[in-house]
Formats: sequence, C-alpha cells, structure tokens
Amino acid sequence: MRIGVLTGGGDCPGLNAVIRAIVRKGINAHGHEFVGFRYGWAGVLNNEASDLTLSSTRGILHRGGTILGSSRTNPYKIDRGVEMVRSTMEARGLDALIPIGGEDTLGVAGKLHADGVNVVGVPKTIDNDLAATDFTFGFQTAVQIATDAIDRLHTTAESHNRVMIVEVMGRHAGWIAVYSGIAGGADVILIPERPFDIDEVCNHIRRRHANGSLFSIVVVSEGAMRKDGDLITEHQETDAFGHVRLGGIGIQLEREIEERTGYESRMTILGHVQRGGTPLAYDRVLGTRFGVAAVDAATEEDFGKMVALRGTDIMRVELAEALAEPKLVDAEIYETAAVFFG
Ligand code: F6P
Repeated sequence: MRIGVLTGGGDCPGLNAVIRAIVRKGINAHGHEFVGFRYGWAGVLNNEASDLTLSSTRGILHRGGTILGSSRTNPYKIDRGVEMVRSTMEARGLDALIPIGGEDTLGVAGKLHADGVNVVGVPKTIDNDLAATDFTFGFQTAVQIATDAIDRLHTTAESHNRVMIVEVMGRHAGWIAVYSGIAGGADVILIPERPFDIDEVCNHIRRRHANGSLFSIVVVSEGAMRKDGDLITEHQETDAFGHVRLGGIGIQLEREIEERTGYESRMTILGHVQRGGTPLAYDRVLGTRFGVAAVDAATEEDFGKMVALRGTDIMRVELAEALAEPKLVDAEIYETAAVFFG
C-alpha cells in the first residue's frame, strides 16, 4: 500500500511520535510506502510532499512540533478542493490518507470519507476536547507546562499578596484549566462549560481573603465566557474553519478583579508555550499506540475510522462519532476541583 500522512491544525507535543510509529510499523510489518504532506491539507492540495522512510523518521520521537509542518487549510473552502485532493492522491499512487488532527482536520477527513476517499484519522489536540477518545496526546504535556507555571506564580503571589490570573488554552472545553488547576491548587477555575459572573468571582476572592488567605490563583480557559456575554478576545480574525482567534480574557479579568476587590492583580497568558517543546513520556506512548493502530486499520482497509483511547485500550471508532460534538469537562472533575476553591 502507499499511504499519505499529514498533520493539520495547531501543533501538539507527540505528533512526531505518531508519524514515526505509522512509518516504522507500516514499513517493517506491512511493507507499505509513505508520503508525508507538508503543512496539513495545504500540502495535499498543492501536492507538496516527500517520502517518509525509516531514516527520515529516525531521531524524532522526543521532538516537539511536527516534522511535516501544519496549517489550518480547509479543502472544502477552496474551489475544486476535493478534486485537487483526489488528483494528488492519483498522481502519487496513494491508496489511503492518515490525517492527524483535531476537530477541523478530522472534520475534513470525515467529509472526504463520505466523498469516497480512504482515510483513517488520528486524534490530536492539547485541548483534549475530541469526543470518542478518553485522551488525546499532547494534553498531558500542556497540563504539565501549565502546572509548572502555576507553581511558579504561587511563590510570587505569596510574596506580593496578589491575585494571579493564569490564562490557559481551551477553546470549547476547559480540560487544561481544570487539570492544571487541580494539580496547581487553583482557587478559582473559569471554563467555557460554566459561564461566570464576575461579581461572584470577586465575592469569592474577597471571602477567601477575609478568611485569612493573602493571595489567590485564578486559572481561566481562553474560551471562558461571562454569563451575559460573548467570547472575550483581543483579536478579530477568524481561520478557514470559522474560529475566531482567542486570547486576552486574562487582561480583562486582571483589570476587573483589581478594580472591584482592590487587591493587586497580575495576569499571565501562557499561550503557545503550552504547545511547544518536548512531549512527556505519556504523550509519546499514546502517540506511538495511536500511530501503530492507525496503520493497522489502514492495512485492513477499515476506513472512515479514528483510533481512540477507551480506558486503557486503543480502539477504532467511527469518525462521525468523534466529530458529533466536543467532549466537555464533566461535572465530577469540576466539582473535585471546586472542593479546593475555599
Ligand atoms: O486547537 C488547539 C489550540 O491550541 C486552541 O486551544 C487555541 O485556541 C488554538 O489552538 C490556537 O491556535 P493558533 O496556533 O492558530 O494560534
């Protein structure tokens, strides 16, 4: 078989582990050949690719980012996009594609499957918001980076008796905020699933300080919203999938919390630091398991599927199931975090 591999959307620690696993298992166990497309769907549309071999995928397991590059290109927003995908596959003699991506990249994969293209998807997002899989690789690394930052902010918060606001990634779901908030001992966690009232947030902080606390740590997802408002962002632009660029809710919270409570406040936006650098061992292992499972599914021509983690097992699920709706933070984990807000 000849198989095309691509990485789309925001990059994520562990992508190179997936690529390496697909190629290593695919060549050694199945005798396949691989082509790696540059910059996600853009490389497929422009037929920009090179061979992925045992030697070109050596030494990449521990490296962050993606050796293939990534973009947020949407073939369905481009005139004759699907035709271009088909003609690239024909020109390269490809039997199947393995796209590695989140809701957008795999959304395209799902549509291509319906249009008769052979695809097997691999779920990827630091946000951990893809349904049908318990975890996506990259999430644990992002949580660790955010937790390390919260630990550091704790000591300076204590020194200055300040309210520290930490803005983390999470467009639709607050997984990074909740996990890093629990691990880092946050006093307030604001997530997209639970629109907040700024008066309640400030009253809570005042109560804490009246009870003897001298500082507070607020962790907020970039996609958190006020009860009465829209998304809060410093940006206007949207991408090819219609998502507005997020970032900046922390700025507003810093100002409002300081104005309303009188406590000195400082915000930190962690941004893309959460997506960069070396993947944790957990994400290398999960990425490797996903890569091996994806190439096995393609070998068996079990197309239209996404590999997924369920409990401790790697399974195949319908792409459509994974894309139906985002996986939101459940009440149990949030309530566990809330035990420590006092
Ligand atoms: O999709 C994951 C994500 O990290 C989101 O949490 C964030 O909003 C977005 O990507 C940022 O994307 P970009 O790299 O295009 O700024």
